[in-house]
Amino acid sequence: MVEIATSILTMKKGEEANTILNLEAAKTDYFHIDVMDGKFVQKDTYQRMLENASYIKRVSNLPLDVHFMVEDIKTAIQDFADLEPNIMTFHLEACKDKEEVKKYIKMIQEKHCKVGISIKPDTQVEEVYEILPYIHQCLIMTVEPGKGGQTFLTQMVEKIKKLKEYIQEKELEVDIEVDGGINLKTAPVVKEAGANILVAGTAILMASNYKTIIEELKSK
Ligand code: DX5
Ligand code: ZN
Repeated sequence: MVEIATSILTMKKGEEANTILNLEAAKTDYFHIDVMDGKFVQKDTYQRMLENASYIKRVSNLPLDVHFMVEDIKTAIQDFADLEPNIMTFHLEACKDKEEVKKYIKMIQEKHCKVGISIKPDTQVEEVYEILPYIHQCLIMTVEPGKGGQTFLTQMVEKIKKLKEYIQEKELEVDIEVDGGINLKTAPVVKEAGANILVAGTAILMASNYKTIIEELKSK
């Protein structure tokens, strides 16, 4: 069974309370929080996401799935740890070497939080292999990180398959999350390839009925 993480990145201003309430009622499995710093990616959503996530924490029991698209991972871990997210995911590309990767994994673990590593479309999946035994989730970006509403990159399907095969072969327990351009057309493709957590922003937030779209994304 796949799980759905709703990205609240494109949630309309002024409609936060209603949107969150409705998403919870529609049984999203996670709230996906896209934290951008204006450096690792162009946009800066840092404060808004910190506020949105704090609000969600106050009104909902659903887990937070935090995706850092930032250069300063250390500060981000410290800032978001107070919200007790279920998982914090950072980008491999934001680390200078494997030692730094291991340092952040340890920092997140010390916050009693699950650890995810994300890779951008141009990063080879083999780059994460040696880290897999230490993390809970690998987030494959299926668009260039930076904004919602982009088109799914079909070349990423092979990457998901490769990762899935490797995880099975090594008998590891690592979730494969996919993020970017997930909709009713691409969901079955990524599931078939081996993804088990699907992030969707636009597809859910633009739908007329959150419950129906979430059920369809799961069952398609
Ligand atoms: C992109 C973000 C995504 C994205 C998802 O940088 O990480 O979470 O906004 O949005 P959609 O589903 O609209 O591609
Ligand atoms: Zn994301």
